Amino acid sequence: MHVTHPDNRRVVEDIRPRSPTDWLVVCGDVSEVIDDVEWALSLLCARFERVVWVPGNHELWTLPDEAVALRGEKRYLHLVDMCRRIGVITPEDPYPIWDGPGGPATIAPLFLLYDYTFGRNIAATKQESLARAHAAGVVCSDEFVLHPDPYSSREEWCYARVQETERRLAACDAEIPTVLVGHFPLIDDVTRALWHPEFAQWCGTSRTADWHRRFRASVVVYGHLHIPRTSWYDGVRFEEVSLGYPRQWQRRATGEVLRRILPAEGA
Ligand SMILES: [Fe+2]
Ligand SMILES: [Fe+2]
Repeated sequence: MHVTHPDNRRVVEDIRPRSPTDWLVVCGDVSEVIDDVEWALSLLCARFERVVWVPGNHELWTLPDEAVALRGEKRYLHLVDMCRRIGVITPEDPYPIWDGPGGPATIAPLFLLYDYTFGRNIAATKQESLARAHAAGVVCSDEFVLHPDPYSSREEWCYARVQETERRLAACDAEIPTVLVGHFPLIDDVTRALWHPEFAQWCGTSRTADWHRRFRASVVVYGHLHIPRTSWYDGVRFEEVSLGYPRQWQRRATGEVLRRILPAEGA
């Protein structure tokens, strides 16, 4: 949503549910500023029956001029506390079951980060793919402002998240399909749509490549790429739902910013 942009803030102000029982999943990058994240989620919470949020990389940035100087995991947990206070479901809460049209489905908000393995699209190692990105002038700001504390690196943090999330997903009711919601895509193939292939290394981890099959996903929902579209892998629908920056959404043909996840369009 990137609500630090006033045009995006206006878009968020206009978001309304189509039915009073609608839930909303918010795929992260709401804002870098925690007060803005709270503003947007509180507003949406008042309108939707339930709001489910996952952090994007931007929420986890520690910018020099922000009042809340928390870094890494502490910053994430601070955001989780804020969400709990206003009634938003986070990756740290029990996964809710959607029982409305198209259900039942376990809605699983995931916070997984990335480990540079998607960088194999341009080089054999992290060192090499990073060097190429620097040479091309395409370096994600996370390198400078997304701190992994207390982990030694973002990939260490990613591995811890993957391990814990895998355990939780394996414990879900095996009779019910899932909707896997994350900021980062679960598979590298979707990053082929990127204009700058160097950016893929900041987009996910190869450790989740089979999760849509293993964990019975009926839909995988993600953002981060700013390339909203629907694609299909192994019969599973993948929805990229980001709004993006004003210069991106203002040239799109449709003004619709909400994406229907369940039931499937036409179902
Ligand atoms: Fe992002
Ligand atoms: Fe974004």
